[in-house]
Amino acid sequence: MTHPAAASQPATPPALQAIGISKAFLSGKLHTQVLEDFSLRIEAGELTLISGPSGCGKSTLLAILSGLQKVDGGRVLALGSELGQLDLRALERFRLQHTGFVFQGFNLFPALSAFEQVELPLNHMGLSRDEARARARRSLEEVGMAPRMKLRPSELSGGEKQRVAIARALAKEPELLFADEPTSALDAANGQMIIDILHRIAHTHGTTVLCVSHDPRVVVHADRVLAMEDGRILSDRRTHVPTNDSKVT
Ligand SMILES: Nc1ncnc2c1ncn2[C@@H]1O[C@H](COP(=O)(O)OP(=O)(O)OP(=O)(O)O)[C@@H](O)[C@H]1O
Ligand SMILES: [Mg+2]
Repeated sequence: MTHPAAASQPATPPALQAIGISKAFLSGKLHTQVLEDFSLRIEAGELTLISGPSGCGKSTLLAILSGLQKVDGGRVLALGSELGQLDLRALERFRLQHTGFVFQGFNLFPALSAFEQVELPLNHMGLSRDEARARARRSLEEVGMAPRMKLRPSELSGGEKQRVAIARALAKEPELLFADEPTSALDAANGQMIIDILHRIAHTHGTTVLCVSHDPRVVVHADRVLAMEDGRILSDRRTHVPTNDSKVT
């Protein structure tokens, strides 16, 4: 790596890196420049929180760093791979093998049981049926959803649905986990449970967790908090993380 911006950085390679990226949207005559010459490093094995006002570009940034959206300019490195150089197939494979995504609206299939939701992507990854089933069960256990794994989304509460969505992401054993406002549809207790799970995933599995949230409780559990405004990082601070890694039961 010879990029001048990298010269003064720590020796450990970042899990994610944006180097001078730009991104704009054109809707009819409306041109929105969301990011311009934007650079960021996300360190491995940490829970990083991004917060900021509506429309400042948080979801766009998450979509770019996870390979869901392309940039207009600049480079995106994820686990050392330059995403812009991967063709569509390779990008899909990268996302399947290395990334998990948790959304505000859960994105579960109405017809599938909790267990099937978690198992499905594992089959696509080419795992054997036995391995897929064992992993699905382990992940659901980890988020405290094993007793309800036969239920469909319509039979689950919001917090339970989000725990299934996290189990689905976790079962892939991804190095990178992205969460876009994962607690905003949940009440206080369920929101707290989701945050505890995300924190534990980063700290016990060594997963890099990048979470967009306005939830002040996430701030307390994050290793690093980035405040974003108008497509720029306004502040970047490290926090002291309480060591509350108790398992959800
Ligand atoms: N597909 C799109 N087409 C046109 N404009 C878009 C598109 N996606 C995002 N934008 C615009 O880009 C800007 C940033 O959107 P983004 O969703 O990243 O914001 P955000 O910070 O996640 O906001 P929120 O907190 O409300 O979720 C907004 O002005 C939005 O209207
Ligand atoms: Mg958003």
